[in-house]
Amino acid sequence: MRNLNATNITEAVLEKVRQSKSPRTRQVSEALVRHLHAFVKEIEPTQAEWSAAIEFLTRTGQMCTETRQEFILLSDALGVSMLVDAINHRLPGGVTETTVLGPFYVRAAPEHAFGADISAGMRGEPLLVEGSVSRVDGTPLAGAIVDTWHADGDGFYDVQAATGLEGLAGRSRFRTDEQGRFWFRSIVPACYPIPNDGPVGDMLKLQGRHLYRPAHVHFMVSHPGCETLVTHIFLAGDKYLDSDVVFGVKDSLIRALEEQRAGKTARDNFVDHPVKALRYDFVLAEPRPAQSGEVS
Ligand code: BEZ
Ligand code: FE
Repeated sequence: MRNLNATNITEAVLEKVRQSKSPRTRQVSEALVRHLHAFVKEIEPTQAEWSAAIEFLTRTGQMCTETRQEFILLSDALGVSMLVDAINHRLPGGVTETTVLGPFYVRAAPEHAFGADISAGMRGEPLLVEGSVSRVDGTPLAGAIVDTWHADGDGFYDVQAATGLEGLAGRSRFRTDEQGRFWFRSIVPACYPIPNDGPVGDMLKLQGRHLYRPAHVHFMVSHPGCETLVTHIFLAGDKYLDSDVVFGVKDSLIRALEEQRAGKTARDNFVDHPVKALRYDFVLAEPRPAQSGEVS
């Protein structure tokens, strides 16, 4: 293993990583070395370009905090998050489609009672959200946890404000009733640019891409007997539906806002003012048997 050059170094590294006892580590390491070496051979970076690449990854790590995950953003902007999502969600028909989690999910979102206004002072037009959770066969799922979060009418998430985790707004957790239903009030979120004051923003600008996601409301829906669903509902008519910077839009996840008059709502709830309404019925998949390569 001496006098290695551009022709034989890949095989020398592959021989080393093949010594791993774990078949999965071996498979992943081999593929990583093969693809990484092929990438470098294809682009033939100068030393200065390779240093810039290392610096880019270093800045990406340094940008990460409790409320800012620049590596997730990088994976999102390169379409890798949606690729991993697609590979892991080859779901049967009838089940609600998935999309990216994104960097603004907060594990400890507050719980609210049905009908609560979760906007907590965020700016935007009032919104009513009504929905349900069921199995594919239509059986309602009582006690499902519906975690939701969204941006405000200016396109900012609560955690992007200086108050960070201290000023949570526009997010909540609900538990569905006996018929699998939930409802709450908030404000209509706007489309927004993904955080672009870091290396991912620099990359997008260099690639000549826009920075926007179409307006949406995030949901993570779970029930002990089903696969957890991570998705969004996109607002129909948004100008970025066909060019989402993170490639996350699916037709089945787009909904038009409906006009809801004051009084009894379409789902038997009550509002005292006319309001825009977003309605969606989520369908969860049955649990899958463990896949090969999955860590249990
Ligand atoms: C989001 O929808 O919150 C999001 C997803 C990916 C990247 C940035 C933001
Ligand atoms: Fe979002």
